Amino acid sequence: MRRAIYPGSFDPVTNGHLDIIERARKLFDEVIVAVAHNDAKAPLFTLEERLDLLRSTMGKIDNVRVDHFSGLLVEFARTNDAIAVIRGLRAISDFEFEFQMALMNRKLEAQVETIFLMPKEEYTYLSSRIVKEIARLGGDVSKFVPPPVAKALAAKIK
Ligand code: PNS
Repeated sequence: MRRAIYPGSFDPVTNGHLDIIERARKLFDEVIVAVAHNDAKAPLFTLEERLDLLRSTMGKIDNVRVDHFSGLLVEFARTNDAIAVIRGLRAISDFEFEFQMALMNRKLEAQVETIFLMPKEEYTYLSSRIVKEIARLGGDVSKFVPPPVAKALAAKIK
């Protein structure tokens, strides 16, 4: 069983995340979309809300499941017998932080490989942070996030 973890804050899930999940699930037997507790980042959506939005958006996909973790990512990968961590790489600006994280994770657990996947070009400018900002300023986010997320954003940012 070749299992990969796709970790992130998913605050909230965007079409870019969904694109990466689609790509990853073709490469692995199973992908665990792992939502980080990450309270330090003061997320807009609670952990439960982020999990619900992922689940309601994705529906049931054969080889993808949604889970959550706190603590070290490599520890979660080890516990779940995962051989890889998937990260989306959108632009050069992502690279420095992602490179640092990948190498640090390798130091912590040499058996887990980080694999970078590039989303469709039209999603390279997309991020949860920007989507939240657009929503806060009254912009239309329906092209960037799935319908349940657009609805949840509208309800959250009234
Ligand atoms: O979606 P994000 O916010 O870019 O995801 C970042 C995340 C959750 C993948 C990263 O912060 C993480 O792995 N956190 C878990 C704690 C950890 O393992 N830290 C050491 C990484 S070098």
